[in-house]
Amino acid sequence: MTKTPRLTVIGTGYLGATHAICMAVMGYEVIGVDVDPVKVAKLASGEVPFFEPGLPELLAKALETGRLRFTTSLAEAAAFGDVHFICVGTPQRKDSPAADLTYVDSSVTELARHLTRRALVVGKSTVPVGTAGRLAQLIRDVAPAGDQVELAWNPEFLREGFAVDDTMKPDRMVFGVTSSWAEEMLRAAFRPVLAQGVPVKVTDLQTAELVKVAANSFLATKISYINAMAEICEATGADVHDLAEALAYDERIGGKFLRPGLGFGGGCLPKDIRAFTHRAEELGVGQAVGFLREIDGINTRRRARTVDLVVELCDGDVSGKRVAALGAAFKPNSDDIRDAPALDVAATLARMGADVIVYDPAAMDNAKKQHPELGYGVNALDAARDADVVVLLTEWTEFREIDPATMGAVVGRRKLVDGRHALDPVQWRAAGWEYRALGRP
Ligand code: UDX
Repeated sequence: MTKTPRLTVIGTGYLGATHAICMAVMGYEVIGVDVDPVKVAKLASGEVPFFEPGLPELLAKALETGRLRFTTSLAEAAAFGDVHFICVGTPQRKDSPAADLTYVDSSVTELARHLTRRALVVGKSTVPVGTAGRLAQLIRDVAPAGDQVELAWNPEFLREGFAVDDTMKPDRMVFGVTSSWAEEMLRAAFRPVLAQGVPVKVTDLQTAELVKVAANSFLATKISYINAMAEICEATGADVHDLAEALAYDERIGGKFLRPGLGFGGGCLPKDIRAFTHRAEELGVGQAVGFLREIDGINTRRRARTVDLVVELCDGDVSGKRVAALGAAFKPNSDDIRDAPALDVAATLARMGADVIVYDPAAMDNAKKQHPELGYGVNALDAARDADVVVLLTEWTEFREIDPATMGAVVGRRKLVDGRHALDPVQWRAAGWEYRALGRP
């Protein structure tokens, strides 16, 4: 049996920090590396620099074992590790829909410079297909150990908010490899995960890169599909909520990712479908995924339509009106505001002259930094005080549990836009609220 490898995790954001912590908890010796000394210091002192349920407890546990430490030094990581996971971000470029590979390129180059013995570099970041092939060559050229260092691709499918479960017990693992040694090393690096019976699909590098973007494109398509149906419902008086429930009984369709509303955001889905479209065009097969532009378009229209509904409830003009925005994060159980539909809607309303007061259970600090022009409440009721319209933008459980009568007592007018189909219209209407939701009469 291959001996247990020592692991390094390069990039300690949502993906890398979770991966490093979970691997240490599962028994591996792990070094987490980041260029940001503040992040490294926080993690080393037991503080998770972002909101992820269950992760702070696991970080404490991992640090206690002495198996996990953090550093800014790639030289230290290179000397220590047998398997190096690349978990840095690949955001959208500022000047185009393509993925920005700066961090992947710089971390791999810098790591490779210090690799003086046999090791496996494993890409986890989401990259345009073809990147792994290029990086494999780069490593061979740069690493002192030359072709003793191999590259594998192991895409990550974790969802924020469920990151710990998705890492400890993923629904599948994909190992993109070019040798049986690389496959053995990966199996050794994930022994406790695989022991639970998690299925593994072994592929070449290109297929492994593609699995990730193909999965995210499919999920985005499902969400935009039901939101496109919502547009049809709006034109006909039909109810997309009932429509989605009726579709979900068909096992071939299924109910997951078929929740209509304000649409998708976050650090993955929006930029991944754009980068995929861009890459397919570069490869001369843009037509094959041309529909992803529509998917993106449907998704952004949801934000505009939500703004329209608020304007409608303000009798056609929001300027000077007080709007309570419940939610800022791109989804519940996260403090992530990257491409968050909620903040997009709030900021648009503010630009139109509304006095917008935001409240989110976890994303307040991030939201305030990015949108200092918005007002902020200390809780949902505080944000709703004297509001002309309340608009629910992120479906946190605590918002679902709001009592319509209690909130009705503090608002200026009982008008509600339920951007996430999270509330019960019967209950809210019974409490005297005018309830509106996209795609519902
Ligand atoms: C996603 C993928 O699910 C994950 O596998 C991948 O690794 C990273 O990208 P994440 O960005 O954490 O994960 O969020 P996810 O739970 O997929 O939700 C994405 C967005 O879609 C959110 O804004 C959510 O509110 C929205 N959504 C989701 C809907 O609007 N309707 C749905 O039915 C489901």
